[in-house]
This record gives sequence, structure tokens and C-alpha cells, in this order.
Amino acid sequence: MSDAQSPENTLSATETASTTHLPVLLAETIQALSIRPDGTYLDATFGRGGHCRAMLAELSAAGRVIAIDRDPQAIAVAEALQAHESRLTVVRARFGALGDVIDRCGVTGAVDGALMDVGVSSPQLDDARRGFSFRHDGPLDMRMDPQHGVSAAGWLNSAAEEDIADVIWRYGEERRSRRIAKAIITARPLHRTQELAELVASCVPHVKRSRQQASKHPATKTFQAIRIFINDELQELKQGLQVAFENLTKGGRLAVISFHSLEDREVKRAFKALSQPPVMPRRLPVRAANVAVPGRLVGGAIRAGNHELQTNPRARSATLRVIERVA
Ligand SMILES: C[S@@+](CC[C@H](N)C(=O)[O-])C[C@H]1O[C@@H](n2cnc3c(N)ncnc32)[C@H](O)[C@@H]1O
Repeated sequence: MSDAQSPENTLSATETASTTHLPVLLAETIQALSIRPDGTYLDATFGRGGHCRAMLAELSAAGRVIAIDRDPQAIAVAEALQAHESRLTVVRARFGALGDVIDRCGVTGAVDGALMDVGVSSPQLDDARRGFSFRHDGPLDMRMDPQHGVSAAGWLNSAAEEDIADVIWRYGEERRSRRIAKAIITARPLHRTQELAELVASCVPHVKRSRQQASKHPATKTFQAIRIFINDELQELKQGLQVAFENLTKGGRLAVISFHSLEDREVKRAFKALSQPPVMPRRLPVRAANVAVPGRLVGGAIRAGNHELQTNPRARSATLRVIERVA
């Protein structure tokens, strides 16, 4: 069902092996999903399939997992797994098309649990050719799906200064957004991740830079912001949360792992709207407590324990939240 069959999307065995991703909060996520062996599950972020394989391991022969990802390299790995795993259906799609995928798979309103482990995968970050990283030089791309949309270079080399500053501020919460945007306009055209990383670093005063380098690269927030914008990540997340929840069976759970405060804010907002009654006007003869809500929060935020933090540094910023469909 995917359109990721072209040769450039097929990973060689060496590439697959060298681009691994350690799934975060794995045991916690599987426990939170409370998997029924013969159920139907959705993995909306296949990545390299760590969570997906663990979901399949909980299922009987009658169970099923539908896995999606917008990244052709992730889909190539998923299809290799699908070749010897009949309980897995793989679809290359983005969250925005999740409703169509669910309909096409014939599971509308019949999903027993769903996982969204959002953001980028380690292979996306670590492979310089994908252009996400300020640490490895590569083409300034940052698209999760390199066959659609505009690359980071394409956008940065044509956008207005105010728009660039706005994105860096909004999605990176970077105080120096205006200074960085101005430097980009002066330096463009930009083509490489290193060019952008050095340019952003040059906007940070030298003393601050050496202090920051010990903890965080000065281009961290700017790269995050541009990546979120290029992939329309927050809007995608909002749509995905809505559609995944709507298609749960009663008792079905949606587990979401987010990696920074902007994503977590979106998750909290969506879960609150689904699990808390709306504020009622005072004069209405209905009490908020009597209004039925479709969701129930399952526990609070779950974060990685010390053991996982020692083996997987990416888990440091991961937050898992879970909601159950009750009506
Ligand atoms: C953190 S990784 C998932 C890792 C996965 N759970 C594993 O164990 O390997 C996030 C994945 O979600 C995909 N992704 C992010 N946003 C997406 C979207 N809006 N639509 C579809 N896939 C998306 C990315 O391409 C990436 O492969």
C-alpha cells in the first residue's frame, strides 16, 4: 500500500543496521496500551519499528497492527518486516491522512489502541544526508518525507525576514530569533547544515557560546524550529491525535510520546478537551459534572527512569501520556 518502492528508498542491509533507533519508554508504553491479544492496533510512527515489534509480540495470530510513517526509509524497514509478518499492514502516510488510512484498512472506529511516538527518529537525525543535524554536515533538507514539500534550504532562501524570525521564535522559543533571521538573509543562499549551524552560532556572544557548548549547541533551538515548520509538525500532531482518538473502540487507549514542550502542550490540550467537561454558562440548568466526556486520562506524565536514561540519552526529554476512550 505504500509508494516507497523506488530504489533510492530501499535501504541496504548495512544502512539499515547502521541506522538504528532505540525505542523510548518501551515497557511503559506497552503496559499503558493494555494490549488485547486479538486486538487491532495502530502504530502511527513506525520509525525503525521498536514499538511496533513489541506490540506484535503481545498479539495472537488473530491480532493486527497497522503501521504508518511519512518517511520512505522507515517504510522500507516496515515493508521488510511485513514480508514475513502477516499481522502487519504498512502504509506510507502522514498523520493528516490518518482518517483515510483507517478507512482504507477497514478499521473505522475499531482500533483497540494507538501509539504516536512523535518527532524525529535517531536515523533521521544521525544521517547527514537527511539534513536535520547541526552536528553532521549535509544538505539543508529536514523533510521527513524528502519527496514532498519544500526543503529547509528552499524555504530559508526565499522567505521574508519577518517570517523566518517568527518561525524561529514560535517553534524554537529562541530569544535571538530576529538577529538570526537577519544573519540568514545577509548570508543566503544557504545550502549546508554546517553553514546554518555556524551562522547561528555567530549570532551568540562568544562567552555565552563557550558556556552553552558545554551543554547545548547554540543552533539547537533554531534547527528544532525550522524542522517543526518544514514538516508542519504541530498541526499534523493535532490532526493525528483527533483522528486516532475518534477511531478507538470503547476501552481503547491512545499513548503519545512527545519530546519537547510545544508537542507536550498540544497533547495536554487535546487530552484535556477530550476528558474534561466544557465550562458551562452559569444560567444553564446542566452542571458540567453531568456532561459526558469521551475520554479518561490514564495516570499522569510518565518519564524515563534512571536505567533507561543511562542507555538512551534521547529518553531524557520523552514524556508519555495516555488517554482511554470511555464513551
Ligand atoms: C521517534 S520516531 C518513532 C520511533 C519508533 N517508535 C521506533 O520504535 O522505532 C518518529 C517517527 O514518526 C514519523 N513521523 C513524525 N511525524 C509524522 C507525521 N506527521 N506523519 C507520519 N509519520 C510521522 C517520523 O518519520 C519518524 O520515523
